[in-house]
Formats: sequence, C-alpha cells, structure tokens
Amino acid sequence: MIDTFLIEVETTKQSRLETVDFNDLGFGRIFSDHMLVADYKDGQWVSCKIMPYGDLQMSPALAALHYGQSIFEGLKAQYTEDGDISIFRPWENHKRMVFSAERMCMPAIPEEIFIGGMKQLIELDKNWIPKQAGSSLYIRPFMFASEPFLGVRPSQEYKFIIFTGPVGNYYSEPVKLNIQTHYSRVAQGGIGCAKTAGNYAASLYPAVQGQKNGYHQQLWTNSETHEYIEEVGTMNIMIRMGNKIITPTLGDTILRGVTRDSVLTLAKEWGYDVEERKVKVAELVEGLRNNTVDEVFGLGTAAVVAHVKTIHHDDTEYQLPALEKREFANKVLDTLTKLKYGQIEDKYNWLMRI
Ligand SMILES: Cc1ncc(COP(=O)(O)O)c(C=O)c1O
Repeated sequence: MIDTFLIEVETTKQSRLETVDFNDLGFGRIFSDHMLVADYKDGQWVSCKIMPYGDLQMSPALAALHYGQSIFEGLKAQYTEDGDISIFRPWENHKRMVFSAERMCMPAIPEEIFIGGMKQLIELDKNWIPKQAGSSLYIRPFMFASEPFLGVRPSQEYKFIIFTGPVGNYYSEPVKLNIQTHYSRVAQGGIGCAKTAGNYAASLYPAVQGQKNGYHQQLWTNSETHEYIEEVGTMNIMIRMGNKIITPTLGDTILRGVTRDSVLTLAKEWGYDVEERKVKVAELVEGLRNNTVDEVFGLGTAAVVAHVKTIHHDDTEYQLPALEKREFANKVLDTLTKLKYGQIEDKYNWLMRI
C-alpha cells in the first residue's frame, strides 16, 4: 500500500546542490531541491506531488495564519556505513503527527503519503544527505489550514508538505538552562502534547528574555503552580541520580518525544532504574545542591543529546558535573549515533532503511 499511492514527480531543471558548502551548514538555513506537497479538500487527500522546492502562493485570508492550525514534525536522514539511507523511527513521527492533527481538528495524514512520500522525496534528493560526521539531512513534514476563510472554526482545506535540508550540529556547546517559574508555555488541558506552532510561539518571549541573561533554553514548569519540571523548549528532559534515570511523566503538557522513548528503552536494557513520574523543582534543586544529581540532559531529534552545563533557579546558578563524567548521556549519544550509521545491531528495528 505504502508505495502504491500515486505521487506525481516534477524534477528541478537546475539543481542548487553545487552552491552548498557542506562544511558550513548551520541549522535550518539550506533547503534541498525538492518538496512534497499534498492537498486535502472536500474530506479527502486529493493530490500529492513532488516538485522543485520553492515559494508557495497563498491568500492573505489563509486560515492557519489567523487561527493557528499548524502542526509539524522533525526527523533526520543519514547514510549508514554500508551505503543505505537510514531514518530513525519515522513511524513514530507519523503516529505523533496523526495525534497532533486530531488534537488540532485537522485530518490524519495517511502513511502512504507521510512515509511513502518521504522515502520517494529523500531518494530523489539523496545527494543532499551530508557525509560529514555529525551532519545529516533534516526532514520537516508539516501541515496547515489552507482554506481562505475568516472565522473561528476548523478549516476545510489543508496542505501537507515535506521539505528537507542538510544540517550540521544543532547545539555547539552544553546548554545553560533557566528554570522558568513565572511564564508558561502550555497549560493543563491545552495543546502542549501536540506538536503545533502556537506552543513554540508562546515560548519565544520568555526564551528571548532568558537569552539576554545567558540562558540557552528555559526548563518549563507546570503552569498552575510552577512546582514541577516539564520539558525544555525543543527537548524532553532527563536526570540521572546514581542508577536512577528520572524523567517527567507524559501528559497534556509534554511532547511525546521519540528520542525520550528510545532512551527509556535503552536505560531499561542497560539495567538502570527508570522512573517516569512527576519531578519537583525542589527535588532537582536539592539534588543539585547536595551533588546527588549526576547528569541532566535534553533529548530531541535536532540535538539528540544536549548535556546541561548549568541550571539557574532563584538567583543561584548550579553547576553540573564535568562532561566526561556523564556516563549515561555519553553512552546514549554514542549508541544512537552508531545505530543510525549502521555500526551496531538494530535490535529494536528502529531504522527505516532506503
Ligand atoms: C517541545 C519539544 N519537546 C520534545 C522534543 C523532542 O522530540 P523528538 O525526540 O521526537 O524529536 C521536541 C522536538 O521535536 C520538541 O519540540
């Protein structure tokens, strides 16, 4: 079924590949030659086409621009040692996009388009996949309300698009976090668990304020009492205290990270005691004070593992242990990297190979 959905293909007449400096990619600046565009109208997906990457024409009344029905995903492709293309658990991103779509009153995207279309697109632009260590091809599937209509109700038309672009490392240095106990990004009963544009918009103001004070990211806390830690701007958060791996329980307010889920599986396999539960700010701060916190790190597709260097709370800056002592996060990074490059056995069938 996946490969039989009819996808029309129009290839570019002039590839831009030659203009790219693969040694200076940065993140999110360079886009590959092609994109996939699917349209939803009258209750069904009516077309799906791969075409040259380029600007879209749109009405100023486009519903997504006014009322925010917009969801997205993020994945990465790379070459394995034996020359295949690998993508890490894309089926989980598809499931999450269907979940986000339902929460935002948007249509489910069929697997034939999400996975089948992605495969076809990546194969066509395979020369855009970087071969430099640490670099990969970032894949951005997204969907938005495309009906030209003013009024607060779900749109009746949608566009689903996948475009890609070669990227370098997301974070170049360990991150400095601020525990955010004033502003909120999401709320109980809200849309924090959906990967939707508004959540990121809500995070910008506090994030910019924090950056002025030297913090790369905010560690968000629950909006009602700010007593419990939730997640970081674009990553889930995990803590190691001795043999314990602790991470906040998923709910309405936390994104179901694919990396988070994978790392919990690895932690169990490696004999750690995994605790998915509510985590009090006070417990984290106490652990930082008395040095029982061995590691804090963010987990997400873009960064994979981001070591946390310092955590700021209530006018105090807590320093985390040296990076070479981060036995768990370092092992996670090493394992997931080797897995993606096909250097170790894929025992959980996490890779889609093209
Ligand atoms: C808010 C948020 N939390 C967590 C994550 C990590 O999710 P994943 O591991 O699926 O990339 C992301 C990135 O997608 C994110 O944007």
